[in-house]
Amino acid sequence: MFRVKSSRTISTTASMQSDNQSEIATAKFAGNAVIRVEDVHKYYELGETRVHALRGVSVEIQHGEFVAIMGASGSGKSTFMNMLGCLDRPGSGRYLLEGIDVSKHDKKALAQIRNQKIGFVFQGFNLLARTTALENTALPTLYTKIDNDERQKRAIEALALVGLADRMEHFPSQMSGGQQQRVAVARALVNHPSILLADEPTGNLDSRTSVEIMEVFQDLNDKGLTIVMVTHEHDIAQFAKRVIVFRDGKIRKDDGVLSRPRASEVLKTLPTLED
Ligand SMILES: Nc1ncnc2c1ncn2[C@@H]1O[C@H](COP(=O)(O)OP(=O)(O)OP(=O)(O)O)[C@@H](O)[C@H]1O
Ligand SMILES: [Mg+2]
Repeated sequence: MFRVKSSRTISTTASMQSDNQSEIATAKFAGNAVIRVEDVHKYYELGETRVHALRGVSVEIQHGEFVAIMGASGSGKSTFMNMLGCLDRPGSGRYLLEGIDVSKHDKKALAQIRNQKIGFVFQGFNLLARTTALENTALPTLYTKIDNDERQKRAIEALALVGLADRMEHFPSQMSGGQQQRVAVARALVNHPSILLADEPTGNLDSRTSVEIMEVFQDLNDKGLTIVMVTHEHDIAQFAKRVIVFRDGKIRKDDGVLSRPRASEVLKTLPTLED
């Protein structure tokens, strides 16, 4: 594994508000927070058993943050991400996305919000095998009203953003794991979302390729994109600006990253395939 180097001090991290400040907080953050989660609980019913997957989660994420979510298996990370991504609703509590309370939205309304505001990157890439990088990237635009020329233009732009301008006509089987993951990131960006959500974006990748994906994320975040990603790896979490740790469906830790490495610098210290 690579070592964490460099030292860029980060002064962010929104602190949580105490109860008696909540009204002020609502007024203050209504316009600013991209994500505001208020005392969210989530239950899964499975026959006789009931799993209490989220147990009172409250958190705010501001525009331009880059947050890593960590925690043991089963601690509620994916449940939380699915809610942030409007794939699922909270059982109780509220979720405000860019100031809009989406907790009570029905499936259709959630799908619409998701398509407009959220880019999702899943662990397994989920690319269509017989479809080029360009077509894979353009896929989410098919559910919008934009015309064909604009679709093409956006897909080209998104691929360029992730450094794949020269791989547009390649099929997934003709690309490395990291390149396929970058196509998945381009696809997540093609509708110009407000947030990029990634559940273990480096889960299937070797160390160097993982850092390459973090380089893409840091570049996108530098350009102003808000990013929330789940990772099991401490070294990967350090590329974010803030780390939130879940345990048993609750947030146990929420800290800024003080000595944040630049992925582009770390890459210089890692061996390449040719080495
Ligand atoms: N669809 C579901 N039906 C029933 N229980 C579920 C469902 N999805 C998740 N759970 C349960 O909810 C809890 C939280 O699951 P979740 O997938 O959010 O964990 P996680 O932190 O993402 O874990 P991992 O690191 O393994 O991905 C677990 O106990 C899990 O078994
Ligand atoms: Mg998970």
